[in-house]
Amino acid sequence: MRQVMVAGNWKMNGSSESVKELIAGIKDGMASVTKAEVVVCPPAVYIPRVSGVADGSAIKVGSQNICDEDKGAFTGEISADMLKDIGCEYAIVGHSERRALYGESDELVAKRFAAARRNGIKPIFCIGETLEERESGVTNDVCSRQIDAVIALEGVEALTDGVIAYEPVWAIGTGKVATPEQAQDVHAFIRGKIAALNADVAEGLRILYGGSMNAGNAKDLIGQTDIDGGLIGGASLKAEDFLAICQAAE
Ligand code: 13P
Repeated sequence: MRQVMVAGNWKMNGSSESVKELIAGIKDGMASVTKAEVVVCPPAVYIPRVSGVADGSAIKVGSQNICDEDKGAFTGEISADMLKDIGCEYAIVGHSERRALYGESDELVAKRFAAARRNGIKPIFCIGETLEERESGVTNDVCSRQIDAVIALEGVEALTDGVIAYEPVWAIGTGKVATPEQAQDVHAFIRGKIAALNADVAEGLRILYGGSMNAGNAKDLIGQTDIDGGLIGGASLKAEDFLAICQAAE
C-alpha cells in the first residue's frame, strides 16, 4: 500500500511572521490527519523557522530546489547537506517554474535528483507538459523524456527513493485543473512505463498530481487508482485550505 502524500509548495511567498502563523496553523490541525504524509516546502530562508515550529509533529519539511553539486563555488545554490542540517527530508526538483523561467534542462534536473538521493534527501521530482504540448498530443512523450533523464543517470531503482509529481504546466496557478480522468491517464502511463522496467519500483512509487488542486477537487483526483496524493501551490498557503486537502486525501 502506498501512503498518500500531501505536499505544499509555498513558492516565493511569505514573511517571517506569516510562515510562523501558517506552520503553526497546520500543526494545530494535524490531529485530524492520521493517514496522509504531510510535507511543506517553504522558501529556503524560512526553512529553519518552519522546521522549528513543525518539530514534534508529523509534518515533514522540504526545500523547493537543491544543488546538483555537494560543496564549493556554486554561488546562490544550497547543498543537500545544508538542507539536511536545517531539517529537510525532501527536496522538490525540476519544478516547471525552474525549467521554464531558469532554464533547468532535463539533464540538470536529473543531476539535482541524484544529488538529493546520494545525500539522503528524498526528491519530489516534477514533470509535466505545457498546453501546447498537450494540444499537439505529446503529453506522454514529454513526461517520458523527463523521466528518462533520471533513469539514464541513476537507473530505474533510484525512483524508489523519491516521489514523482505530475504537474501539467497549463494547470499550475491557472485554476484550470486536469479532470480526474485526464490526470489518471497520465499517471497510469507513467506507472506503466516504469513497470515495464521494474514492476516492484512501479508498484511502490508514489505519483502525486499538482496543478490547481484544492479542497473541492482533491478527493476526486486522489481517489484515482494511480494518484497517490498532491503537490499543492496556492491552496497550501492557508492552513485551513491545506488541512482540508489533507483530510480529503484520507
Ligand atoms: P497551484 O496549486 O497553485 O496550481 O500550483 C501547483 C504547483 O506548482 C505545485 O508545485
